[in-house]
Amino acid sequence: IAEIKGKPDEGLGRVGQSIAVMGWVRTLRVQSSVTFMEVNDGSCLSNMQCVLGSEVEGYDQVESGSVSTGASVWVQGEVVPSQGSKQKVELKVKKIVLLGKSDPSYPIQKKRVSKEFLRTKAHLRPRTNTFGAVARVRNALAFATHKFFQENGFVWVSSPIITASDCEGAGEQFCVTTLIPSSGETTDTPLDTIPKTNNGLIDWSQDFFGKPAFLTVSGQLNGETYATALSDIYTFGPTFRAENSNTSRHLAEFWMIEPELAFADLDDDMACATAYLQYVVRHILDNCKEDMEFFNTWIEKGIIDRLSNVAEKDFVQLTYTDAVELLLKAKKKFEFPVKWGCDLQSEHERYITEEAFGGCPVVVRDYPKDIKAFYMRQNDDGKTVAAMDMLVPRVGELIGGSQREERLDYLEARLDSLNLNKDSYWWYLDLRRYGSVPHAGFGLGFERLVQFATGIDNIRDAIPFPRTPGSAEF
Ligand code: 4AD
Ligand code: MG
Repeated sequence: IAEIKGKPDEGLGRVGQSIAVMGWVRTLRVQSSVTFMEVNDGSCLSNMQCVLGSEVEGYDQVESGSVSTGASVWVQGEVVPSQGSKQKVELKVKKIVLLGKSDPSYPIQKKRVSKEFLRTKAHLRPRTNTFGAVARVRNALAFATHKFFQENGFVWVSSPIITASDCEGAGEQFCVTTLIPSSGETTDTPLDTIPKTNNGLIDWSQDFFGKPAFLTVSGQLNGETYATALSDIYTFGPTFRAENSNTSRHLAEFWMIEPELAFADLDDDMACATAYLQYVVRHILDNCKEDMEFFNTWIEKGIIDRLSNVAEKDFVQLTYTDAVELLLKAKKKFEFPVKWGCDLQSEHERYITEEAFGGCPVVVRDYPKDIKAFYMRQNDDGKTVAAMDMLVPRVGELIGGSQREERLDYLEARLDSLNLNKDSYWWYLDLRRYGSVPHAGFGLGFERLVQFATGIDNIRDAIPFPRTPGSAEF
């Protein structure tokens, strides 16, 4: 359908041609002499309006009521100019084949249904306008991501999903324990049957990996190993966090894009993050016009203007210290009081980007070292690290990044002061032993980007099958 209706002439150039369309029935209006049926195949937002009369081969299926909303059909006919005002062309059907009937219990009838309801029908929601559009824009953002990095000489690296290290040190990892049963077969093993040593601790020698292993929270540490060999690289894959936060911005399973730049500092990192965001935003404005118009009308009024500004204007940059000053001077009462050294809460982040800077993305840099991860490079003041967060309206933190501590002695001292076990970071420290270079990178939460780019309120609607506390259905 996109091939016909997605053209600038909306299909007029195909008038007179014979075509076949396969898709799902969105609406059906049976009138005495003629039936109008709208079919959607997911290739675009537009439906193909099909006009059927009693002369159509297979029309008995329509008359008997077998063709209904949700059914899958194959229709063949001639493209003709449309009498209606909603579309330029329609299909004058010659033959219809009902491929799959739709039971009357089909939950997505024409009436508008809430996003909450659709979350309970995640297997059928891609058939709605909103979720179809989100899926296509998500796809375009992924494509533009690879395009941006490939055009700029970055190499895509696959980072592991199962890992023994906790990159962020926040203890939010899902544990993967798989015991090796003595028979050699895998079985479901309830936790209380895990072999224990006599002091009651888990006997890891019986485990598949021989030690605790987890789902990764970030591919960064592995990414750094490749950046210190291939220069600029990026990862793009699923990451997992057992954060028990029921918010509209947190998922337990989300996709992250993590570029790592060799021979680079924090300024290079911020420039890359800015250029990347502007590139992907421009890409969807240019390539997803129909879906973006839909979001502009139905999901977030003005989103096209907002994104056009993002693609064109410089972003604001300020230090963490200046951000705290600004929040202290704000007239607004915050739920969490601000003082130097505290982590910025989402209400603070949103105030900075939405109110203080009128909707412009803001990059905050040089955070206190005590609220940031061990790998960030210490600044000369001894109090802050070369970290940056990019804050955007509605979403808050879209990107978190930093220049990495490339000095072995500083990094070891930092691990010690955080009581982290240096031995388990031996390979990471090796990168500082053998040809260390200044390097920097960032992580962007892909679903937050989808939220930002579509106007979708809740992150659960930005990924096909959301994983959140208490919910792993589908
Ligand atoms: O700020 P974070 O925790 O940074 C890192 O993981 C670094 N290792 C990245 C790097 O420098 N390579 O996470 C990065 C981004 C956040 O800014 C946010 O967009 C997203 O990941 N994110 C989440 N998205 C959805 N659900 C969650 N629970 C998320 N936690 C982080
Ligand atoms: Mg962060």
